[in-house]
Amino acid sequence: MTTTSGPLLITGATLADGTRTDLYLAEGRLADPASAPAGVERLDADGLLALPGLVDPHTHLRQPGREDAETVASGTAAAARGGFTCVHAMANTTPVTDTAEAAEYVAALGEREGHCEVRVVGAVTKGLDGEELAELGMMADSAAGVRLFSDDGRCVGDSLLMRRALTYVKAFDGVIAQHSQDVSLAGPGACCHESEWSGRLGLPGWPSQAESIIIARDVQLAELTGSRIHVCHVSTAEGVDVIRWAKARGIRVTAEVTPHHLLLDTPLVAGYDTTFKVNPPLRTSEHLEAVREALADGTIDMVGTDHAPHARQDKDHPFDVALPGMLGLEQALAVVMEVMVGTGRMDWPTLVERMSTAPARLGQVPGQGRPLAAGEPANLVLVDPAARATVDASASRSRSRNNPYDGRDLPDPVVATFWKGRRTYAR
Ligand code: DOR
Repeated sequence: MTTTSGPLLITGATLADGTRTDLYLAEGRLADPASAPAGVERLDADGLLALPGLVDPHTHLRQPGREDAETVASGTAAAARGGFTCVHAMANTTPVTDTAEAAEYVAALGEREGHCEVRVVGAVTKGLDGEELAELGMMADSAAGVRLFSDDGRCVGDSLLMRRALTYVKAFDGVIAQHSQDVSLAGPGACCHESEWSGRLGLPGWPSQAESIIIARDVQLAELTGSRIHVCHVSTAEGVDVIRWAKARGIRVTAEVTPHHLLLDTPLVAGYDTTFKVNPPLRTSEHLEAVREALADGTIDMVGTDHAPHARQDKDHPFDVALPGMLGLEQALAVVMEVMVGTGRMDWPTLVERMSTAPARLGQVPGQGRPLAAGEPANLVLVDPAARATVDASASRSRSRNNPYDGRDLPDPVVATFWKGRRTYAR
């Protein structure tokens, strides 16, 4: 969907490891800068960082079914604005991506309309109903080449079904990504973190243990089956503890944290502003500290945005009725810089690992999360580490406006994004 760009010589960029270099983009790949012809278009990147294009393991693009909230075109445009060159489109669309045909349909939409690569996440169970396995093998064998499966938005609650899903996908090295939330512990009305805040606000809460109980079960099922489990949006200290234990045991588990669970805390829901309603809910400061530490030390492997656009008519409701979810793609890098890099918790090479390399590895996406070296696909983002701005939700490339950072002063790092050598965003 992005207009073709000609060859481009980016001069004086700084790589994540601090090396200064020129980058020559030609025919969709990085080439030896010495081979750039005189007179080629140049971009002065003095003072800018060049990072591998970001990869999101967890995006809701809403197409098919809710094109009023987001489309593949608008969601991937937001992704490009955020420095992403690849997103994984979650299965909770209408219809659900639970067949090979549905997976191929979304993949084709991505090919045709995407401003970045769109990898399809298949549902674990038919219709996300948690009762019968979806066509896992057929989706894997389809043209969409699905490797990641998730009922995200819902938890696969049945232990036997989860065991079967893990066993099934092992045959083709697939991964089950679980939305870890024990619904039976809180009930369907839960809409914020169970804490003094839920009591004070009169909102039914999710205890942290609703998350960690499922993670504990699933890592043990991964051990039993020898399969791989990925934990979506870890938000609790208890969840981090279980993942740390599982990794120490050699269980094949990976985990992600969202930008919002790194930065935003429970007291934000005190105004009953439904922009801050999200699932899992925003947690209290001790949980934020735990997930930050886990992202720094690698217990949490990667950042996943859980970009969840919602139309106004789904958010303009009482807090307990509004749909959960918030935008994430455009400010993800800004938030990670603010919380992790700006505070000295994380260096740039580690940020690249957590926001590009690790998610590309999880999704088994060739050509993404690669070093910026000659011969590699030209997927990269130019970053101004010093720029800041006040976030303006109305300026979003997303079709939705449920941006929890609206009005916040944050880094404004993305100067330009290139996907397969084409400029998909430029400030
Ligand atoms: O808040 C959320 N919204 N959490 C999820 O897991 C799903 C998402 C959505 O699809 O809106």
